[in-house]
Amino acid sequence: METIRQPRVMREIAIKEKKNGKSIGFVPTMGALHEGHMSLVRTARAENDIVVASIFVNPTQFSPGEDFACYPRSLSDDLEKLEGLADFVFLPEKENMYPPDFSTRVEVEGLSENMCGRFRPGHFRGVATVVLKLFNMVQPSRAYFGQKDYQQSAVIKKLVRDLDLTLEVLVCPTVRESDGLALSSRNSYLQPEERNAAPALYRALQSGAKALKDGQRDAGLVGGIMRQSLSEEPLVRQVQYIAAFDADTLEELEIIKKNSVVLAGAVIVGTTRLIDNLLVNDLK
Ligand code: PAF
Repeated sequence: METIRQPRVMREIAIKEKKNGKSIGFVPTMGALHEGHMSLVRTARAENDIVVASIFVNPTQFSPGEDFACYPRSLSDDLEKLEGLADFVFLPEKENMYPPDFSTRVEVEGLSENMCGRFRPGHFRGVATVVLKLFNMVQPSRAYFGQKDYQQSAVIKKLVRDLDLTLEVLVCPTVRESDGLALSSRNSYLQPEERNAAPALYRALQSGAKALKDGQRDAGLVGGIMRQSLSEEPLVRQVQYIAAFDADTLEELEIIKKNSVVLAGAVIVGTTRLIDNLLVNDLK
């Protein structure tokens, strides 16, 4: 496994590998790798000749007052986990990603505005911009993202479509703890009693999914069931949103008519913001 810091070097290697007919699987991350990331890396390994993982805590996707400064960083552990699975680990420096005169932003309108976009202004602009830069540097044939960040995956798929990029975007299932909590690097912020409370979000989404499966089609009532479930956990300090959304447009639904719906929520437990979602398919 080789570590690369210079975007120019990364791109030269990628172009050479592609010229030799090799496919490149890419897993972009911000580090603090957990089983969710590793499942993406293993899938990339199984489906491509070359695997590249990047680690870059991207400052432009954090709003002022968010956790950029204290975002968990564990480079040596991360490299150990990737050893034997990735061929290249790309570790760009902030100065190379965003030189002082950097002034371009990528905005995926529509999909970026609802859900988390309402609470994290500019977040998806930061994600889309850095992901497009990383795609240009790594030249992937396929890029892998986790379903936990459902809106992020939707934004990136749209970016790829709108800008005629030639790679394939693959979204892999959310990996969960045994009590249902979706794995996230931010789970490390949770105090023990908050950690115990955190699966409340998954339970709420499950109660919404059950209502849908039982035939409930009034999205307002499904939302009410999920909010009621969350209200049973006193350590959920704030519910930013929890609702049923169109799985393609991410618009909040009133009446559920399609057979595919995403139930998604964002809550604050202690001081930690948690997100999760369930895709509910095959609704009659
Ligand atoms: O999901 C993440 O870790 C980040 O948003 C990503 C895609 C690596 C962009 O910084």
